[in-house]
Amino acid sequence: MKRRIFLTLAAAAAGVLFNAPVAQAADPVKIGFLVKQPEEPWFQDEWKFAEIAAKEKGFTLVKIGAPSGEKVMSAIDNLSAQKAQGFVICTPDVKLGPGIVAKAKADGLKMMTVDDRLVDGAGKPIASVPHMGISAYNIGKQVGDGLAAEIKKRGWDMKDVGAIDVTYEQLPTAHDRTSGATDALVAAGFPKANVIAAPQAKTDTENAFNAANIALTKNPNFKHWVAYGLNDEAVLGAVRAAEGRGFKADNMIGIGIGGSDSALNEFKKPSPTGFYGTVIISPKRHGEETSTLMYDWITQGKAPPPLTLTTGMLATRDNVADVRQKMGLAAN
Ligand code: GLA
Repeated sequence: MKRRIFLTLAAAAAGVLFNAPVAQAADPVKIGFLVKQPEEPWFQDEWKFAEIAAKEKGFTLVKIGAPSGEKVMSAIDNLSAQKAQGFVICTPDVKLGPGIVAKAKADGLKMMTVDDRLVDGAGKPIASVPHMGISAYNIGKQVGDGLAAEIKKRGWDMKDVGAIDVTYEQLPTAHDRTSGATDALVAAGFPKANVIAAPQAKTDTENAFNAANIALTKNPNFKHWVAYGLNDEAVLGAVRAAEGRGFKADNMIGIGIGGSDSALNEFKKPSPTGFYGTVIISPKRHGEETSTLMYDWITQGKAPPPLTLTTGMLATRDNVADVRQKMGLAAN
């Protein structure tokens, strides 16, 4: 009996130690930063800004590309084995939510999400995990407003214009972004019937290209096109597909979301392409601020705000430098 009580107490004590990794003053702070698509410039920028926070605060940043559920799970175990105290994650699949939360808890790691918010079994956001994302619907509206303004400026008759809506419905932030763009276009008088959904199988340029090609083939009646999607890569895919069919800068208006190298490289080309603009969002806030929030949580026990939604600004090749400056991105 005595022995059983002793074991129970020992297990309880171990549990306390295990679940409460408040770093001691001497503990070196180590923070993981897991991203779903390490090859995408947006995520490289997030890492770059997270490194700036690491240098400034003096913690070790462990950057991990985690494109699948298995990679996420083994990365979390690995971080725990390395004595990290927490991590920031953009998950490859929001439905992994409950599994990731359980794994982090079992490993005694603090976690916050960035970009893509985890959902529970019922598809509802997991509100207990602090999150920083973009104000997706409003940013989508900025895209739609920008497209409508440019259509009007060019004097196109809206009935002759098709809209390639590159969708990725399983990701809530993608759904909100493209719905915002569609709603803004329709509110500006764009015929809803001219909005052609182009579902992409994965969120990269190649898959967007394939999706847009189908939309273009099925709708040979339009004289001009516009395109939007969840990010710059989606719109670049649509722009490249349209180019292949002869719709170049004067007959195609694509507006992306992001503002990292995919978009910047397009603006640096000697002549304009159908990639007309991008709503620049902030990898600085999503990388530097999230990891600083995690650092403060680990070192001071101060949890990050439950939900932070960041804003964006529309930029075209004419004002991109100015907009980047205004968003505090110019020097980088
Ligand atoms: C999602 C997209 C990324 C980027 C981020 C911004 O994760 O897949 O391309 O737009 O959102 O929060």
